[in-house]
Amino acid sequence: MTQTLTIVDHPLIKHKLTILRNKETPTAHFRQVLREISFVLGCETTKDLALGEIEIETPLEKISAPYLEGKKLCLVSILRAGNGLIEGLLDLIPSARVGHVGLYRDHETLEAVKYYFNMPEDLSERQVIMVDPMLATGNSAIAAADELKKAGARQIKFLCLVAAPEGVEQFSKAHPDIPVITAALDRELNDKGYILPGLGDAGDRIYGTKS
Ligand code: URA
Repeated sequence: MTQTLTIVDHPLIKHKLTILRNKETPTAHFRQVLREISFVLGCETTKDLALGEIEIETPLEKISAPYLEGKKLCLVSILRAGNGLIEGLLDLIPSARVGHVGLYRDHETLEAVKYYFNMPEDLSERQVIMVDPMLATGNSAIAAADELKKAGARQIKFLCLVAAPEGVEQFSKAHPDIPVITAALDRELNDKGYILPGLGDAGDRIYGTKS
């Protein structure tokens, strides 16, 4: 498919994703497990952060030890389901800034239309991690990345939980420079744009807005 796609292979991720896929999983448990899985996915997404060295003293001796060079990060939630991944990522990277982008689909043109966009001012200096649990058609992720680039973002990664082959294809055609990290590449989209087998509507599963 594409060399920009990473499917994170870890037993904890597989186990947690099974819980999320299960329609019997109640809302509170769904949210908790989403928080846990996003923590683990966040480790993979940030694995190339630059390290420097600092001198410290352990109780026994002086050493030069690895230390994050202070790369500035900005997590960007694609509303609303993206918010479900933010808490776990902030557990991992508490100092990250958080931007939000809201898009809706115009029923006539079928284009994604921006209704909300709020980012830190120094976006161009930050490594951006854009998040949305589902990469389905790719339309909203493509539009969100377009907006981020317009706002000056230069280094972007896209973290999702479940991706459809159609969405990965579309997204990497539109933004070949943006690596995609996911927990699973599912079979296909259905005619309503849901991922199969998927986990249903991620926003509804997180917020309990449909039963
Ligand atoms: N958005 C979702 O929440 N779920 C899907 O399966 C596809 C898009």
